[in-house]
Amino acid sequence: MSPDTATALAHPNIAFIKYWGNRDATLRLPANGSLSMNLGRLYTRTTVIWDENLTEDSLTLNGAAVSGPALQRVSAFLDLIRAQAGRRGGARVVSETNFPPGAGLASSAAAFAALTLAATHAAGLELDAVALSRLARRASGSACRSIPGGFVEWQVGTGDADSYAISIAPPQHWALVDLIAIVSAEHKSVGSSEGHALASSSPFQAARLADAPRRLDLCRRALLTRDFEALAAIVELDSDMMHAVMMTSTPPLCYWQPATIAIMHAVRAARARGMAVCYTIDAGPNVHVLCPEAERQAARALLTGIAGVQQILESEPGGPARLLPNRL
Ligand code: DP6
Repeated sequence: MSPDTATALAHPNIAFIKYWGNRDATLRLPANGSLSMNLGRLYTRTTVIWDENLTEDSLTLNGAAVSGPALQRVSAFLDLIRAQAGRRGGARVVSETNFPPGAGLASSAAAFAALTLAATHAAGLELDAVALSRLARRASGSACRSIPGGFVEWQVGTGDADSYAISIAPPQHWALVDLIAIVSAEHKSVGSSEGHALASSSPFQAARLADAPRRLDLCRRALLTRDFEALAAIVELDSDMMHAVMMTSTPPLCYWQPATIAIMHAVRAARARGMAVCYTIDAGPNVHVLCPEAERQAARALLTGIAGVQQILESEPGGPARLLPNRL
């Protein structure tokens, strides 16, 4: 195996307590701590080949060459690794994903977590999980949460050195299921990075941040004690608070479609009838419906009956980012 090549796989994650806003955009130091679950059924698998003879980096995603801002973002991140490893030349990055990118499914989290692991390993850097998570954070904030496995907390930290994610429970801790109701698979018009920069323009952001430690505590406790009712209440509150900030930013952001709202109402009504389900929504129109394994079929049937639901992806909790045998 060539030491200049490595392949890694990482899962996306769904935030139960959301990251929205940075206190330092360059270092991607978040305005608040966040908590998430890796999605084991979904993955991005990335191979990196460093080559001293290349003058530019290249990126292939699902067989198609990528250029423009997406490649520039990857290249800027690879610059950090080049500096850390003392490398010259370019990298070939070949990536595959088994879920639709850009649809609010935290595709950048899986992509940059896999890239961080593959690119550093291929460059000869042997980083531990903390160093990997810190580095992935620089590429995409939520990517730092796709480095550890299972249920993960990203500590807000005081600076670059202590703002990273750790696993607070393994995937086997709780058989939760995330049913992702796709109401639109189109690429979102305003990406998360732009959205984070707008967060502080909302008069609600300060209140959201002031209350974040309380929500994190409640969520962590609900998770560790497998208390679904408590989890549902705090997860929905946190999602609604983030979207309230988005909608009251200047300019305002509203990611919801009519079907998004229909699902929110249906989930709330089902829970009032006794079904263990709750919703959470990232920076897109699709809705993540969480439930215990025992409710999977009922929750699926609920979503199938709602107009505008085009597809339902399903996932159980997933493991950490990991190296794979080389593929190229
Ligand atoms: C709404 O991690 O995608 O999904 O750091 O700019 O890449 P960048 O942002 P990103 O933001 C995720 C925002 C969110 C909430 C969350 O996953 O916590």
